[in-house]
Amino acid sequence: MAQGIVLTGDRPTGPLHLGHYVGSLANRVELQNSYKQYVMIADVQALTDNFDNPQKVRDNVLQVGLDYLAVGIDPHKTTIFIQSMIPQIAELAIFYLNFVTINRLKRNPTIKAEIAQKGYGENVTAGFLIYPVHQAADITVVKGAIVPIGEDQLPMIEQANEIVRTFNRTYGVDVLVEAKPLISEVPRLPGLDGKAKMSKSLGNAIFLCDPADVVSKKVMTMYTDPDHIRVSDPGKVEGNVVFSYLDIFDTNKDEVKELKAHYRRGGLGDVVIKKRLIDVLNAFLDPIRTRRAALEKDPDYVMATLLAGSQQTREVAEQTMREVRAAMRLDYDVRDKR
Ligand code: TRP
Repeated sequence: MAQGIVLTGDRPTGPLHLGHYVGSLANRVELQNSYKQYVMIADVQALTDNFDNPQKVRDNVLQVGLDYLAVGIDPHKTTIFIQSMIPQIAELAIFYLNFVTINRLKRNPTIKAEIAQKGYGENVTAGFLIYPVHQAADITVVKGAIVPIGEDQLPMIEQANEIVRTFNRTYGVDVLVEAKPLISEVPRLPGLDGKAKMSKSLGNAIFLCDPADVVSKKVMTMYTDPDHIRVSDPGKVEGNVVFSYLDIFDTNKDEVKELKAHYRRGGLGDVVIKKRLIDVLNAFLDPIRTRRAALEKDPDYVMATLLAGSQQTREVAEQTMREVRAAMRLDYDVRDKR
């Protein structure tokens, strides 16, 4: 087993999509073979902007758990847990708040963008504003050293590492471990509409749980080249979402290359390339769907897996907290005090 602990997670606000797969799920399926890996369902973080809709978060904990197991995150190799079931994370986050200024939080680029996008302005809640601190606690409570994430999460890791360094320096310890982000080598998957990012809130996503006919319909709406009007017209491959997806999911690279050349020359219609992509995506998704359908029949098993993973994580987290509390002179119950 290689050195280093992997920690990563997702907010349970909806089922996971192909963008999640390309951005980090694929990495996790690999990493679990050589690292101790923790994957977290971040229900507390999801509640920061869904606190008035707890049932949505509750329902999606199961959906995300199903997605994890269906894509091949193996609970015998990876510890999958629910954030709220680790009270040590909340305790640690409270301690960390001493090391972070409000101004620093407001300057976090991801937070800044989200505040703008959600229109919170000055009325942003404290809970939302501090979620990067909470996320620092997610990572460090299990001493996560490697964090497979999408690029948008880089500011979170940067901020977490600032906290780690300040904590260790302030108390003269090396209790906390800095984390390295692991960004997928596969280029980011655009949305169906050609927007830079696939996202549920933009309504441009293909979900891992979409049935075959839904995938077909979605691919048929995909953005291609608006100037490619007649089949005989030469078409553009750059920015053409169908080709972006074929590049990632079609294993026959030579044929994709030929298709691109043909499309550029003219004489290749959008429907032909879309039909090919539908087949490619459905072949990719079919085994995931089959596993998901079997697991959906046994939600108790899925929840039991998440609870068992949470129990394991609590034990590791409590170990870290003993060191943290000792560093902060909060180890009242430990007999051999210095
Ligand atoms: N913020 C992440 C997202 O929106 C989810 C997340 C929460 C996370 N805690 C984490 C990711 C810790 C990596 C590590 O997708």
